[in-house]
Amino acid sequence: MREIKEQKETGTLYGTLFTNYDSALFEDSVELFFERHKKWGIDLDWFKDKVCLDAGCGGGRFVVALSRLGAREVKGIDISEEAVSAANKRVRERNLSQAEATVASVLAIPYPDNYFDYVVCSGVIHHTPDPYKGFQELARVLKPNGKLFFSVYGAGGLAWFLQVDIWRFSICKIVPFSIMEKIWKFVGVPANKRYNYLDNLYVPYCFRYTEHEIRRWLTQAQFHNLKRVKFERYDYEKVSSRILYGEGWIQFYADKK
Ligand SMILES: C[S@@+](CC[C@H](N)C(=O)[O-])C[C@H]1O[C@@H](n2cnc3c(N)ncnc32)[C@H](O)[C@@H]1O
Repeated sequence: MREIKEQKETGTLYGTLFTNYDSALFEDSVELFFERHKKWGIDLDWFKDKVCLDAGCGGGRFVVALSRLGAREVKGIDISEEAVSAANKRVRERNLSQAEATVASVLAIPYPDNYFDYVVCSGVIHHTPDPYKGFQELARVLKPNGKLFFSVYGAGGLAWFLQVDIWRFSICKIVPFSIMEKIWKFVGVPANKRYNYLDNLYVPYCFRYTEHEIRRWLTQAQFHNLKRVKFERYDYEKVSSRILYGEGWIQFYADKK
């Protein structure tokens, strides 16, 4: 019961943050998918004709990006009704008839085993009550030889403490999200910055992992070709970054055997 309430809270929080993106900010966020994949050396032609899932699709930036890459079928799921309707609106406005988002949880993905060629799940399962179950669901719906792109928060680092935890467990327990968001808006913090910080201050679950743990999940689930791809904001290979950001943002590309 408590978990259902918390998942509802998560949905409403992200719904509010995502629907505030204007069209230009949204297009920038779609463009980032292409730019990052080029930097990581992932072949964008691979996506042509593929069946793809974005689990925890938020406002639909990856759903739109995958459709533009020529995927045959693109499904998005998210626990947030507001995020799903924002994603579907964006899909319709762009005439992407192969794409559709629905309300569902990554902890019970409403698709059969081995259905997708590609599954992306970025920044989602650490906000659920059972992240490992979420990971198992992603692996279940992916076909053998399919590709997973998956990211979670890394553990450790001063930034978590200074930018998130001291506020999350103090002032954010007193000032509700709806008021805090209005204050940030009033002082002119743009929607993408509000989203980057406010979600972690208010979301009920915010688990963090080590790279070692995530590699273990992937290898135990029979993934191979594991490739950790770097996020420009945290260079976890530098000592200064390790001190500030600990394990950093852990994101992997991996193939299912
Ligand atoms: C940080 S946002 C990331 C959104 C998107 N993947 C992106 O990168 O733009 C986290 C998303 O996970 C969704 N979410 C949280 N718990 C979920 C669950 N159990 N099932 C599906 N989506 C969930 C939230 O509603 C939110 O849209």
